[in-house]
Amino acid sequence: MRRKLFVGNWKMNGSLVANGVLLKGVRAGAQEARGELAVCVPACYLAQCSQILSMSGIALGAQDVSSHTVGAYTGEVSARMLQDFGCRYVIIGHSERREYHGETDEEVAQKAQRALAAGLTPIICVGETLAEREASLTWDVINRQIKALLSLLEPAEVEGLVVAYEPVWAVGTGKNATPEIAQEVHVAIRALLAQKSAEAGKRVRILYGGSMRPENALDLLQMPDIDGGLIGGASLKADDFLAIAKAVL
Ligand code: PGA
Repeated sequence: MRRKLFVGNWKMNGSLVANGVLLKGVRAGAQEARGELAVCVPACYLAQCSQILSMSGIALGAQDVSSHTVGAYTGEVSARMLQDFGCRYVIIGHSERREYHGETDEEVAQKAQRALAAGLTPIICVGETLAEREASLTWDVINRQIKALLSLLEPAEVEGLVVAYEPVWAVGTGKNATPEIAQEVHVAIRALLAQKSAEAGKRVRILYGGSMRPENALDLLQMPDIDGGLIGGASLKADDFLAIAKAVL
């Protein structure tokens, strides 16, 4: 049985004051969550958030990591640094990074390797754009994105991943994938993972992301292969984030 995981992706939102208020709210209701909670915060707030979350059972994560280990890479943050601040998770290959920062499948795989080597759990985002879905390219895109990972990682490393299916057309648009669409893609992702390691096929949690809200969470989470959510907008309100995490029957 895979334990559900609810990850807040704050993106480039927050301030010292706002983070304190938000995390206090999340902490207050965390006991009732039907799974594990995590927040992925901007890198500059890791120290603050790590302190607020200590002993809370809520995991801390980052939103990106360097594909390099250490050295002359101005502006980059290494996996070891994230680990130093108590991060358990790091989001890698979010569609906003792929689109606005030109991240390739190969870089995503390298970043995953760095994160795993530092003891972090990568949350690998995959998903098709609207144009790709309309051109019936969803499978090709998912296949390409997952295969790039599988070609670099060892079977035991694949077992240590979390994958998030985030159809790009659903991210931040208020238009979520139907539970059936999401379930179909999650099954396909699981089958690809299982080709590399049967254990990974069983164990890896596959989250859904893209306009997940308290109103649609239960329907999505009832699907057998949806193991939680990667939540953007709704994770900025403690009540909404918690309502999603409590939406499991
Ligand atoms: P959203 O973002 O919930 O605001 O659609 C999800 C994400 O980008 O991870």
